[in-house]
Order: sequence, then structure tokens, then C-alpha cells
Amino acid sequence: MLPHLILLTAVSLLSAAKDNLMDQCMDGKHHKTDPGPEDNLHGYCSPWKQKSCCSANTSHAAHQDQSYLYNFNWEHCGSMSDQCKTHFMQDTCFYECSPNLGPWIVAVDQSWRKQRIVDLPLCKEDCESWYNDCSDDFTCMENWHTGWNWTSGINKCALGKTCRKWTDVFPSAKDFCEKVWSNSYKYTDYPKDSGRCMQLWFPNDDVTPNVKVAQYYANLKGSAHNPRLWPGLLLLSLLVMWTV
Ligand SMILES: *[C@@H]1O[C@H](CO)[C@@H](O)[C@H](O)[C@H]1NC(C)=O
Ligand SMILES: *[C@@H]1O[C@H](CO)[C@@H](O)[C@H](O)[C@H]1NC(C)=O
Repeated sequence: MLPHLILLTAVSLLSAAKDNLMDQCMDGKHHKTDPGPEDNLHGYCSPWKQKSCCSANTSHAAHQDQSYLYNFNWEHCGSMSDQCKTHFMQDTCFYECSPNLGPWIVAVDQSWRKQRIVDLPLCKEDCESWYNDCSDDFTCMENWHTGWNWTSGINKCALGKTCRKWTDVFPSAKDFCEKVWSNSYKYTDYPKDSGRCMQLWFPNDDVTPNVKVAQYYANLKGSAHNPRLWPGLLLLSLLVMWTV
């Protein structure tokens, strides 16, 4: 009886450890509770059709400036180039739709979301192409999460925050990727095929490289660091002590 109980506890602990970091949707403003198939995902959100944290509606809105998602105005310093905007659409899809962000989800105390991602390792090519494609654009803010003037309902540059060349605001690709969403992303030197970094976009609509990377970091972060597993671990050690 007791060995069975031990085995059962151990198995449920292992699956809990795995479930906790893989196939997870963050508790955000528009995220679904659990990932699932979505046949009608739009444009840059389509790679997540088979397993998605975003609904079809969210995927459409992810392609619009000042959409109902966050009323966020990409064109706060005049029009944004199409090549630059494409990356922000892909970034929005990645954030809203990917079920592979688990290892980087942390709790936050914000009015509009309960969880966010921090220090997610971006592939070097993804960060650098985003930065390079925006290098002729303008912005007034380094951190796009705070400091805006929202009185009109959309984010505008606050008084004293002048529009400057992208490359003056962000001297490097690293500077940009890490600061723009207040450290949601971490710059890395890892290339796409390294298995150690996440891609924002997939030429063949195949997200499996990201699934493998998430699995790698989920294993690294391991069960012992997850407070939700402590009661089970305690039970397991008590059961083992009883038997010996
Ligand atoms: C999606 O958008 C349509 C049209 O705007 C709306 O009728 C529908 O209720 C929305 N669905 C969800 C799940 O929000
Ligand atoms: C915010 O914008 C409004 C106009 O929309 C302006 O009257 C106000 O001075 C601005 N405040 C700051 C701090 O930028």
C-alpha cells in the first residue's frame, strides 16, 4: 500500500512540475485560461493555430495600431515604417498566443494583468532584425510600459519627452530588446538553431523550435524551485521515512 502511495505521489509531482511550466497561458489581459486549437488565427499569429493562448479576435487586433487590446499607439512619433511595425505585430502575437512562455512567467501586481514574462532569452537574429528594421523610425520613450501621457485614451509622448531617432534612444539591439518592454526579453548571442533561445517569428509556421527551448528551460528551472510542489515533496519525504 505505502509503496504505491509513494509512487503515486512521485508521479503526480513529476507531472505537476512539467505541467506548471509547459503549455501554460499567462494570467494576462486577453489570454485564454488554457491553450487550445484556434483554426482562424490571423496573419502573424497563425503559427500558434494548433495550440494557442490567443483567440481569433485577439489575433486580428494584434495587427492593428491602437487596437482594443491595449489602445497602444505605435505611431506616437509620426508614422512607423511597415518593416518596423511587422516586428511589433509578431511580438504581440508571440506574447498573446504562445503557450511556451511558462519558464519566464512571473506574478505582478498590475491593474491590467496578474502575470508577465521576464528575461525571456531572444535569439540574436530576432532581436537584431527587429532593431535594424526600426532603425530609421522615431520614438520618445525607452521603456514603452510606463511614462506615457494617457489622458486622451491612447499613449502619447508626455511633456518634455521629445521624439528622437530610434538609434539615439536605443544605442544597440540589446538596449532596445531589453528596455522596450521593461526586461520582458533578454538579449542573447544564441543563434536560432542553438536550442537555447526563443524566436518571435517562424519562416515555416513551425513553432517546435520554441517548444524545445521552453522544455529545456523548464527542466533547468526544475521542480524544487516551484513553491506549489512543496506540500507534495513534504508528503513524499514523510512517506519514505515511514517505510524505512
Ligand atoms: C469576436 O469579435 C466579434 C465581432 O467583433 C464579436 O461578435 C465576438 O463576440 C467576439 N468574440 C469573443 C470571444 O470575444
Ligand atoms: C497630457 O496631454 C494633455 C493633452 O492631451 C495635456 O493637456 C497635458 O498637459 C499632458 N500632460 C503631460 C504630463 O504630458
